[in-house]
Amino acid sequence: MDITETIAHQHEQQRRMFGQLEEWPRGDQEGLAAMWTRLAILLEIHADAEERYFYPELLKLGTGGADAESVDEEVEDAVKDHNELRGAIRKVSRCRTGSPAWWTAVTDANVYNSNHMAEEERQDLADFRQQATLELRHEIAIAFLRHEALHAATGIPPKDKNPERYVATRRKATKSALATRAAAKRSSSTRRPATKTSSKAAAESD
Ligand SMILES: [Fe+2]
Ligand SMILES: [Fe+2]
Repeated sequence: MDITETIAHQHEQQRRMFGQLEEWPRGDQEGLAAMWTRLAILLEIHADAEERYFYPELLKLGTGGADAESVDEEVEDAVKDHNELRGAIRKVSRCRTGSPAWWTAVTDANVYNSNHMAEEERQDLADFRQQATLELRHEIAIAFLRHEALHAATGIPPKDKNPERYVATRRKATKSALATRAAAKRSSSTRRPATKTSSKAAAESD
């Protein structure tokens, strides 16, 4: 498995589901509502799983793919796009299913999502493919799909995130994890000679 392929595959699924809605019989309100609910759940669990498992790893390894200024800008932009999409989904839920206002809101959600997916594929997925090992891409795909499967039936309540704070918090977490790892490495390398010395001293004193 590969997280970049998993995400790209789900993007295709989202495009197809918006296409199915456009072709759906306009008078079938129950069907339209059910199709939309399924799509809205998929959109949110996909965005949430990306924010939990994909973007933190991209922040560690990315360099700013394609036309992105930097990896920080790339990730901030993605989180901002997710918030805009959440706003559009909320707007759909406030309209009567099948009404002109509902269709306008669904189209807006489609536009936000299409623009975001194109950018995500061009910048974020391409950047990650260039920087991450296949092993890491596999590991993230497992965590990502597991999280989605756990929430697929009921969905996840959408929660906007502050893009700058999202990046800053993950940068801080990475820094402190690296510092802890470096300190552990330092203490294990200083402990080893000390053990030798103390065994020597112990041997001499015997
Ligand atoms: Fe995505
Ligand atoms: Fe995304």
